[in-house]
Amino acid sequence: MDVKDAIRKRRAFRSLIPVNITEELIMDLAECAQITASCFNNQPWRFIFVYEAAMLKKMRDVFSSGNAWAHKASMIIVVIGKQEDDCVIHDRIYYRFDIGMATEAIILRATELGLVAHPIAGYSPKKTREILGIPNEYSVITLVLVGKHSDKIDPVLSEKQVEAEKKRPERMKIDDFVYMNRYIDKV
Ligand SMILES: Cc1cc2nc3c(=O)[nH]c(=O)nc-3n(C[C@H](O)[C@H](O)[C@H](O)COP(=O)(O)O)c2cc1C
Repeated sequence: MDVKDAIRKRRAFRSLIPVNITEELIMDLAECAQITASCFNNQPWRFIFVYEAAMLKKMRDVFSSGNAWAHKASMIIVVIGKQEDDCVIHDRIYYRFDIGMATEAIILRATELGLVAHPIAGYSPKKTREILGIPNEYSVITLVLVGKHSDKIDPVLSEKQVEAEKKRPERMKIDDFVYMNRYIDKV
């Protein structure tokens, strides 16, 4: 698969079936993060790969109600980081940008391997910290749910979520977010 294929194939699917999680898979994903670019090569990303059955069960408590589908994930990649670990140049705070890039590398590699890797914001960072022992100075930036896509729709999905399983949600037109040579007001 080339990069553009992986970018096209990536979807935030929510109907998941189990996939076997191995140390080899985790190392493969971690290597993709390891070689990602970062400001001054600061590498501010930290990932907790949660895959033990007992820990996954505990983590069910962290999801918002709209994310009940996440209970079927075979692994949760908990993405954490802190501002002090990366460049701050006046108002430009880079750690979330660099961590986002490393996380996308993981997501695209997982896609290439035939997996779903779905980032979410709907969770309790407080509960996540408590369960996993994450120190307060770290922001819990996202959780990435990993599984295999099921062609059977998960019955816990809302109508809108079912729609999104069938068809990628609409995007802005390219002309609405791309500027050529200079900024112009677009209404
Ligand atoms: C930062 C972030 C937070 C998200 N949070 C949630 C979430 O809490 N629950 C959920 O079902 N999907 C979540 N999504 C997935 C988006 O809804 C999804 O990417 C978007 O609808 C576009 O669909 P697509 O990725 O399949 O193209 C999130 C995605 C991102 C990048």
